[in-house]
Amino acid sequence: MKNLSGSELEKKNAAEKACELVSEGMVVGLGTGSTTAFAIRCLGRRIAEEGLHITGVPTSYASEALAIECGIPLVSLDRSPVLDLDIDGADQIDASLNVIKGGGAAHTREKIVACSAKKFVVVADNKKFTATLNRSVPIEVLPYARRLVERELRKLGGACKVRTCPGKDGPVISDNGNFILDCEFGEIPNPAALGEKMSLIPGLVEHGIFTTAAEVYLGFEDRVEVLRRKV
Ligand code: 5RP
Repeated sequence: MKNLSGSELEKKNAAEKACELVSEGMVVGLGTGSTTAFAIRCLGRRIAEEGLHITGVPTSYASEALAIECGIPLVSLDRSPVLDLDIDGADQIDASLNVIKGGGAAHTREKIVACSAKKFVVVADNKKFTATLNRSVPIEVLPYARRLVERELRKLGGACKVRTCPGKDGPVISDNGNFILDCEFGEIPNPAALGEKMSLIPGLVEHGIFTTAAEVYLGFEDRVEVLRRKV
């Protein structure tokens, strides 16, 4: 493998530590993004080298393609509606394990898979950790409802921009055929309450606030810290 940069090594360490949770026979959610890609590759290696039998449920076309390349057998949510474990990345994580996701525009499927799993764990480099969430929240919206959703989000204190493809004029289109809004709220002291309000907006397909992570694997160059939800 090529030499990894510091942050790639942090991501790899976090992802590979979380893969230790995976055991024989499990159905595992395969998240999306550069950190989860290390987990997908690690699971592919374990299948090849240890003869591990697992099936994966991908959260995006990108993770599906990588899983196929790595030799991970896949199954649909229709066939396997309850997963043993879901491993996914994050854009920001707070001290209560609330998470913002959707940097890769995949958060709708990611949330469906996370909520279908008995255990949802997050893997990330340590720079994603913050005391209070404060980055923009990705929001998937039906193109037809965009103006209504923007207006309702403004009432909640959010300022939205439609995400566009770098170097092109057009909007990013999600795997579900929708637009992505990136919505700035400033500091988000109560992510669950904001998420509940956003979920009531007609035409808003899904927002990127996740509040159900059981554990977060935070990668450093020389170690991994595991944060567990307080019950
Ligand atoms: C995709 C996501 C990703 O998990 C998130 O953006 C983190 O990505 P990366 O591991 O590349 O930093 O939510 O929708």
